[in-house]
Amino acid sequence: MIEQVPSKVDMDKLVSLCKRRGFIFPSSEIYGGLGACYDYGPLGVELKNNVKKAWWKAAVQERDDMVGLDASILMHPQTWVASGHVEGFADPLVECKQCHQRWRADHIKGGKCPACGGELTEPRMFNLMFKTFVGPVEDEASVVYLRPETAQGIFVNFQNVLNSTRRKLPFGIAQTGKSFRNEITTGNFIFRMREFEQMEIEYFVKPGTDEQWFKHWVDQRFNWYINLGIKKENLKLRQHAKDELAHYARDCYDIEYLFPIGWSELEGVANRTDFDLKQHAKFSGKDLSYFDEETKEHIMPYVIEPSAGVDRSVLAFLADSYYEEKDKEGLRVILRLHYDLAPIKVAILPLSRNEKLIPLSREVYNSVRSCWMVQYDDAQSIGRRYRRQDEIGTPFCVTIDFQSLEDKQATIRERDKMRQIRVPIEVLKSTLEAKLCGEPLDVLPPGGKKWLGFEG
Ligand code: GLY
Repeated sequence: MIEQVPSKVDMDKLVSLCKRRGFIFPSSEIYGGLGACYDYGPLGVELKNNVKKAWWKAAVQERDDMVGLDASILMHPQTWVASGHVEGFADPLVECKQCHQRWRADHIKGGKCPACGGELTEPRMFNLMFKTFVGPVEDEASVVYLRPETAQGIFVNFQNVLNSTRRKLPFGIAQTGKSFRNEITTGNFIFRMREFEQMEIEYFVKPGTDEQWFKHWVDQRFNWYINLGIKKENLKLRQHAKDELAHYARDCYDIEYLFPIGWSELEGVANRTDFDLKQHAKFSGKDLSYFDEETKEHIMPYVIEPSAGVDRSVLAFLADSYYEEKDKEGLRVILRLHYDLAPIKVAILPLSRNEKLIPLSREVYNSVRSCWMVQYDDAQSIGRRYRRQDEIGTPFCVTIDFQSLEDKQATIRERDKMRQIRVPIEVLKSTLEAKLCGEPLDVLPPGGKKWLGFEG
């Protein structure tokens, strides 16, 4: 009997798994790292790309009313004056008079330095945008900012997209990309980073229909996480109180996840009204209105913005899929990632390193690797190799044994219940394809049979 240990995982375990298996490393670690910056390793980059791919599929590919964009990180500095970021994108900063550590005033309880108990300075507002310079002269005229949100790249391109795609309202523009915030206090692994990646939608609607579309997007985005395997009890919606709303927002819901650090924001869905388009029209002097053919009027669209963090999503998918099982061989760690998110979809495992097994195993490997990320592993016992794949979330392991040389069949072992089927190698690729799309394991291809793990 396998004992299932509850899946709530602490951050240390996740950090350690991520480092050990090559998901996530501290940035420039050999130099001691750089605060709140992380690098995605060989498995992490696959997982992260799969998260973005799943988002793009739901946000753009499967919708008639959405298009994509990839705007530059450096933008005209007036963008950030118009958006309100130069004036208002700041956190209250306090400094300890004794040890000189700096803190975010709104994160401090008790009014004393959390490190040494010393007295703190009065708060001053600290702008979170990173500044740099364009061109060879480092003066005020050449200052630009690293974008603190991808959203503004969409707003400044509103007319370009409208003119080039002849869209009618309602329609939206989706974009993924890096953003930068010079956070005062950081920590909690990839939850709050200074360089991070966003997945943002700006959905343009007729004023008066904004509340209905706001509800639509809150639902859509909440269900996106559920459909990708996040447990419902670990997700909740939290409406922003009036005094917490961003300067551009009329209403906002956070989709919160029960991270190892507690309930925290995974995604925000905001009703940004016509704030941004109006501001950019004012500051650029360009007409950013939309001509409504029905009413023959120029209107300024309202905007609904679902804004998700890629890195926070990665962290949530890792935390939610982490399981430990105690069995007679010790502790089995499993990442029960949704198949679409798993970094490696299939592992090809010759039963042993016996050279007779190599040609067929390599042939099978070569026949499937063009379809998915596939690993070939022949090091150590088959049991250890299964565990290695379970720990990184690989949905299917294919084993080539001595019988395979005779009957040209291979076993497919699935990750979650460790059940196996045996199928002819000539239908292996189509079988794996069907299983990765969600076909139950006991639906067998011609010539296939149930194998180990189906009894009882
Ligand atoms: N665009 C909203 C945000 O970055 O929080």
